[in-house]
Amino acid sequence: MGMDDKKLPFCESNKCSCLVFVFVVAGIAAVVCVTFLVDDVRDIYDHDGKAAGTPWWKTTIIYQIYPRSFQDSNGDGVGDLQGIISRLSYFNYLNVGAIWLSPFFTSPMKDFGYDVSNYTEVDPLFGNMNDFDNLMKEAKSKGIKVIIDFVPNHTSNESIWFKHSRNAKDSSDPFWDFYIWNKGTMINGTRAPPNNWESVFEGSAWEWDNVRGAYYYHAFLASQPDLNYRNKRVLEKMDEVVRFWMDKGVDGLRIDAIPHLFEIANQSLDEPKGATNGFDENLHKYLKNQPEIYSVVKRWRAILDTYEAKDDNSRFLLAETVGIPHEARLKYYEAGSVPFFFNLIPAEDKCNATAQCFKTLIKDGVNLTEGLWPNFVIGNHDNRRIADRIGQEYVDAMNMMLLTLPGTPTTYYGEELGMRGGDYSRMTPRDPYAITSHDPTKSRDSERNPMQWDTSLFSGFTNSSQGPWLPITINTEYMKVNVEIEKNKTGSSLDLYRTLAVLRQNEAFKSTNIDFPKMNVMNVLIYIRGSGTNRYLVALNLGEENDGINIAGAAKNATLTFSTKPRQGSLDLSNIQLKIGEGIIVHLVE
Ligand code: GLC
Repeated sequence: MGMDDKKLPFCESNKCSCLVFVFVVAGIAAVVCVTFLVDDVRDIYDHDGKAAGTPWWKTTIIYQIYPRSFQDSNGDGVGDLQGIISRLSYFNYLNVGAIWLSPFFTSPMKDFGYDVSNYTEVDPLFGNMNDFDNLMKEAKSKGIKVIIDFVPNHTSNESIWFKHSRNAKDSSDPFWDFYIWNKGTMINGTRAPPNNWESVFEGSAWEWDNVRGAYYYHAFLASQPDLNYRNKRVLEKMDEVVRFWMDKGVDGLRIDAIPHLFEIANQSLDEPKGATNGFDENLHKYLKNQPEIYSVVKRWRAILDTYEAKDDNSRFLLAETVGIPHEARLKYYEAGSVPFFFNLIPAEDKCNATAQCFKTLIKDGVNLTEGLWPNFVIGNHDNRRIADRIGQEYVDAMNMMLLTLPGTPTTYYGEELGMRGGDYSRMTPRDPYAITSHDPTKSRDSERNPMQWDTSLFSGFTNSSQGPWLPITINTEYMKVNVEIEKNKTGSSLDLYRTLAVLRQNEAFKSTNIDFPKMNVMNVLIYIRGSGTNRYLVALNLGEENDGINIAGAAKNATLTFSTKPRQGSLDLSNIQLKIGEGIIVHLVE
């Protein structure tokens, strides 16, 4: 450094001018590239799809909102529908065309809304039906589709249906077998549950009810009794629920816990050894994945179709299929739904989230859906955030992967910012799973932490003097990782995400094909999307060191379209250096 440089503040030095020049040139180049790439892009809010014959859900990202944690509007520390309305333009900014709302229905909130006591009411905590109608109206005016959670497997034990059922005296009562009741057995003079069935949330899946004088079955909490889908009346009631929300104008349903809809009819059978509890184990021979499920999914699909036929607007049916065998996947498609492909989420536990690991998982996802519409998801309200599961330095690469894979991607709120989950290790867990399992490591609180909007108190999530229902913790670096800051920072996770959301509208990313070129790289995940002259190579360094790749065999010529980290100089195809966690998209020219 020369004497003059020492005296001058950095930005008045020659070095700074040089840097500014490099960034301006790089910026212009990036804009030119992106503009070129999206040249033939349809308006991404034109989800009508009639002209192209493509349903809207094939061209958009789905953004999952956990209403409790997205935006509080009334200062009670819990997010609500008005809060979501106030943030709708964020989705236009993000270039996201559809939102999925986790439950906002009347509920005692034992499982934070996944225990519904009235399916056709809004819980006062989240607002009222007027708010929901306004949300629909506002979303529509902004071109945003709305998918809502549908929780058919179980109700809350505070549902009027359950109250009727436990008080029913005999089978003449229409609610008599609305739920799954069993008198149990007598072992040495003591009453015991009829079998060894275990709940996902641990412990016996049978709960004794004094009023009815029988046990009832619950796949999840004891306060979440399972409905009996062998009862025609249950089916009819749920049809009404589906119609109710379709009449409200919703664009799709995410069906909760669908593999649990039926249990084997013969309740004297014990489950085989190994089938105890847990979220995603596929060992439940009698409690999950029963063959009767698909005709019920078809039935709901048929209702959606009647609405679709009226206005030509496609209705999306997304199935929460945790722990399903491969054969079941096809049956969900046949029934007219798209089953979530969850296998990328446990990548860290299954195969260390390496490049080879993701390659195998993605191939699996694509092969399983050959000829069908794929979907990928890498986070939700039941799993730790990407930054905590895979590592902060890989968040942008993970978002790039999600948005450049075939099919419909689903992003969990906050992942576009690279948000970490809250550190609640010194707090009594709020999540019932952690409580019933007596295992705080099973808590899902961390990933349900409040959305980080800005640098104000409580990150703009709430103006409650008490603070949010789950604290905003220091480990999340909320003063840096939030919408306000990232909006103004070129190259932030948010900035990259919204550019990728536009890039993926290019034809190359809309098709279902994906090729994994044979290349001698261990730690970089490489795949090619598109065909002919419209081919793009995606390379993601998922290793623990900087790494180089040679893609000279893939094309004679290539240009850099996008990178998650600033890059300088021209591309040497035989030696492209990638930093840890860096992702690039390269346009291949023959
Ligand atoms: C689903 C939800 C989960 C909930 C469970 C019981 O798996 O994703 O959050 O606890 O169903 O409804």
